Amino acid sequence: MPGLLGIEGLERPAIEAILHRAAFFQSREDHKDFLRGRMVVNLFFEASTRTRTSFEIAAKRLGADAISITASGSSVSKGESLVDTLNTLGAMRPDAIVMRHAASGAPHFLARYLPTPIVNAGDGTHEHPTQALLDARTILDRRPSLEGLKVAIIGDIAHSRVARSNVYLLSKFGARVVLGGPAPLLPREFTDLAPGVDLTYDIREAIRDADVIMMLRVQLERQHEASFPAGEYFHFYGLRLEHMELAKPDAIVMHPGPINRGREIASEVADSQRSVILNQVENGVAVRMAVLEGILKN
Ligand code: CP
Repeated sequence: MPGLLGIEGLERPAIEAILHRAAFFQSREDHKDFLRGRMVVNLFFEASTRTRTSFEIAAKRLGADAISITASGSSVSKGESLVDTLNTLGAMRPDAIVMRHAASGAPHFLARYLPTPIVNAGDGTHEHPTQALLDARTILDRRPSLEGLKVAIIGDIAHSRVARSNVYLLSKFGARVVLGGPAPLLPREFTDLAPGVDLTYDIREAIRDADVIMMLRVQLERQHEASFPAGEYFHFYGLRLEHMELAKPDAIVMHPGPINRGREIASEVADSQRSVILNQVENGVAVRMAVLEGILKN
């Protein structure tokens, strides 16, 4: 792999190879020879707990060196531009740059100029490819295939790069995706992203007979003005225990995190046996090991 910018452009065999390799890395065995001597730079222009930490752990478990830079602790805070920052880091010859940025398309733009492979760790409202990969790994740990599964993705779809990457991935593998949320946060254009994507403003309809319920945070940081009454959100769109009776008996509950308890999900559900939220976090390390190895091994 020359880098990883999104799921949209990845073919099924490439995704299958990453998921297969991630299953191998789920064991905590020592793999420190795999990428010894390689250097990964994590450059995060937006806040992150899971993605940044797991990329760093993934690199270190494979024997690579990893350093993490945040915008507030770098010369970005002194006015340095994105291109100048990346050129500066590129001049130090890292083997890969993992990057999160608030602007959709920022990693794609830089990948055209820099010879260093770039891994998209989330770009604006566009894509979050490794999140979709770790979500798929988490589902496949519990189901033999994605084919034919009903996956309900509920919440702030409009601002969600997680939803977009998951729509691309799940559709490539024959899952049926139903997007749910309030009208201002549920753009009809999402049904054009892939065949077989439906949307509904009724979360009960989304959850009915679902195999997977994926809840999303309301991304207030991307909304210039509130597009719905925040106090009513949980009443209409929060996932509560009573909703679980509508889903398949073995349905699982997912959330990319960070979760806002009492806004998009009740604690009783987030902490229930159905929740695989921490399994997603754990699989984030294995999937990012597979991605870094695919990019850096050769
Ligand atoms: N899911 C996710 O991207 O979480 P972080 O923002 O904590 O990295």
